[in-house]
Amino acid sequence: MTFEFSSNTLDKISVDKVLVFAFEGEDPVLTQGFLQLDKVLTGLLSEEITAEKFKGKTGEVLSVSPYKKILCSKVSVLGLGKKEEFDGNQLRKAFSLLAKNLKNKTSSIAFSLLSLKESNLDVALQSQMIAEGILLGNYSFARYKEKTKEEKELEAVIISEDNKNNQLKAKEGIKKGELFYEATRLARDFVNEPAAVVTPAFLAQVALDIAKKNKNIKCTVYEKDQIEKMGMGAFLGIAQASGNALRFIHLEYTSGLSSKKLALIGKGITFDTGGVSLKREDSMKDMKCDMAGAAAILGVFSIISKIKPKTNVMGIIAATPNMVSDKSIVPGDVVRSLNGKTIEILNTDAEGRVTMADSLSYAVKKGANEIIDLATLTGASMVALGTDIAAIFSNNNSLKEKVKIAASNAGEKLWELPLEEEYKKLNKSDVADISNIPSSRYGGTITAALFLEEFVDKKPWVHLDIAGPAYFEKGHDLGPKGGSGFGVRTLLNLLEFNL
Ligand code: BES
Ligand code: ZN
Ligand code: ZN
Repeated sequence: MTFEFSSNTLDKISVDKVLVFAFEGEDPVLTQGFLQLDKVLTGLLSEEITAEKFKGKTGEVLSVSPYKKILCSKVSVLGLGKKEEFDGNQLRKAFSLLAKNLKNKTSSIAFSLLSLKESNLDVALQSQMIAEGILLGNYSFARYKEKTKEEKELEAVIISEDNKNNQLKAKEGIKKGELFYEATRLARDFVNEPAAVVTPAFLAQVALDIAKKNKNIKCTVYEKDQIEKMGMGAFLGIAQASGNALRFIHLEYTSGLSSKKLALIGKGITFDTGGVSLKREDSMKDMKCDMAGAAAILGVFSIISKIKPKTNVMGIIAATPNMVSDKSIVPGDVVRSLNGKTIEILNTDAEGRVTMADSLSYAVKKGANEIIDLATLTGASMVALGTDIAAIFSNNNSLKEKVKIAASNAGEKLWELPLEEEYKKLNKSDVADISNIPSSRYGGTITAALFLEEFVDKKPWVHLDIAGPAYFEKGHDLGPKGGSGFGVRTLLNLLEFNL
């Protein structure tokens, strides 16, 4: 898909579809672009929106035939939602829904940008949101499907703009939108690929390839012997069912501009059967998604050199499947983690926190000043917050606020849950320093976060439980069912603004 510019007005551009916009209302608020084209079409568009009861809800589309009065044979009115609430997220969503609507039907569209007065968004930001929206909405994962012949792909997006300065600003925004999409697409693809493809060795190879392509990124991959030598007994315990499959991945981006080190850690369970505490079939079927945290980190690192953050950044992934075999870890086993704390395993399906324990300790050992982890950690987070919202926990207000702002810019929803001191006792073990499952089934997202906190050595830390929004069982506003790439754009926003 390419984004291009035309200095012609919309009536003089030849594409499959010309687009104009309207804000939501009983009588929709018509934009300048709408009014201009409506004039050329002698009021046809305003007649149609009344006749068809078009309200202008975000992403609502009304198609109108202009009867050869203009070069293009179809005009669509795209709803942008309420004008009072309009922001970049609403614009991204409108264009994503549009792209879903146009799928397989349209290969080229043209529109003009909103004026600053109409939208409050400058040309660059507007263009970024539009590019992100179209690209995210247009995403599909069809590698393993036979291609049907009639499928049309959206190939050209043409922006009608005659001011060169505005064109330059728009280009900048589009470039960023494309970059952010590229990183998100990578994360989505890795989650959508079967676990037989996305193995720990595969993730390690991706990380090594990223380092090869970027001279300011280094990558170290540890295999079983070295992981044993380092003393990662927790990670090894979960991985022991799967022979030599495990990999520990350490990416490092060096900015040369600061001595600060931010660690980004992703849960990398390439498939979660639950281990001998086996999952039922309905909760196991989508468990290839259990490396979505790791996928997000790799997505970020794939373009981090282009964002050029001031801070140094580590990317850390303990990758293994959680399998059943005669070598499996079993309830009652005790493992010793990298920081010396012992963990009693009482349920092998609470494997994420056990592998994350060693990743967190590793980040601390390697001198991280700040830590952000992303993990599809608990089903309980979906019970609490549903499929669209991730839980955020933190021991540090300033880092937490930065992540919240970045997420809000990215259009990724977070809701804070507390690191409740009183619940710490629920993670107590009779035989070890801590148990991998709490003694109460209530508040499971909180007790899992409290478990992780034991391994961050009081360093500023943010934990995102992304079990809900990392993987959609149905299509959603910004994409189809499957991996969403959740977290990628939050982290990129955070790095970009050096928040
Ligand atoms: N990977 C799962 C959590 C999960 C559930 C992710 C649904 C995505 C969608 C995790 O390893 C797990 O199984 N957690 C258990 C913990 C319990 C045994 C304490 C859970 O949430 O049931
Ligand atoms: Zn599990
Ligand atoms: Zn898991």
